[in-house]
Amino acid sequence: MSLYAIGDLHLHFQSELRAPGQLNNPAWENHEETLRQNCLKMIKPTDTLVLAGDHSWGKNLSLCEKDLEYICALPGRKILLRGNHDMFWDAKKTDALNERYKDRLFFLQNNFASYDTYALVGTKGFTFEGPFYMRQGRIVGWDTDAEEHAKKLVEREEERLEASFEAACRAGYSRFIMFLHYPPTNVLETSSPFTRLAEKYKAEQVIYAHCHGATRFHDSLTGRYRGVKYSLVSGDYLRWKPLKVL
Ligand SMILES: [Fe+2]
Ligand SMILES: [Fe+2]
Repeated sequence: MSLYAIGDLHLHFQSELRAPGQLNNPAWENHEETLRQNCLKMIKPTDTLVLAGDHSWGKNLSLCEKDLEYICALPGRKILLRGNHDMFWDAKKTDALNERYKDRLFFLQNNFASYDTYALVGTKGFTFEGPFYMRQGRIVGWDTDAEEHAKKLVEREEERLEASFEAACRAGYSRFIMFLHYPPTNVLETSSPFTRLAEKYKAEQVIYAHCHGATRFHDSLTGRYRGVKYSLVSGDYLRWKPLKVL
């Protein structure tokens, strides 16, 4: 039994919409088939695959159905995290999604999933990515309105993450693997409310996605930091080969 993770599939079986970085970029060419083949080779039916957000470009659930069916057809148990592009997933209606895809997909939000002796906890997260303006490594400007708005989003996501940890604690779990869609810190930070929660609950690993393109792959923490192991699992970073977490 193994635990795998990958994020940012950005599927578009029912949508023409794609990010500029996805167009004419060899890393994204036929990525659905590359990932499917890698999963078939690596993942057994008894394994678990966590998909760390940004699943689909579809603007609502009916425009995501083929994308979610593609995910259903991947091997193993699939656990999904909410990404910033997942418009089909109303955070207040996670229970309805779990009911609709019962026994096929599990949507992780204000709840947790068990894996062996671990609780898999998580939320979308949020990272203030600016605008802050850098010149020759120095900050020369800052959007304070955007920063104020970001603080509110971080607080809300912090509450959701703590709800996930607490639900797992109430069920008797004390070993955690923590998942975020957004990176836990931005390029200027070494800690955040999310790293503090990881440390408070002694999460063994933090897995996150969202960072696309070589210039963004090192925006946040990777490797071991203050007792927690951090890993980026965006699909283009992993070249569509899921990371073995446990
Ligand atoms: Fe993404
Ligand atoms: Fe994202």
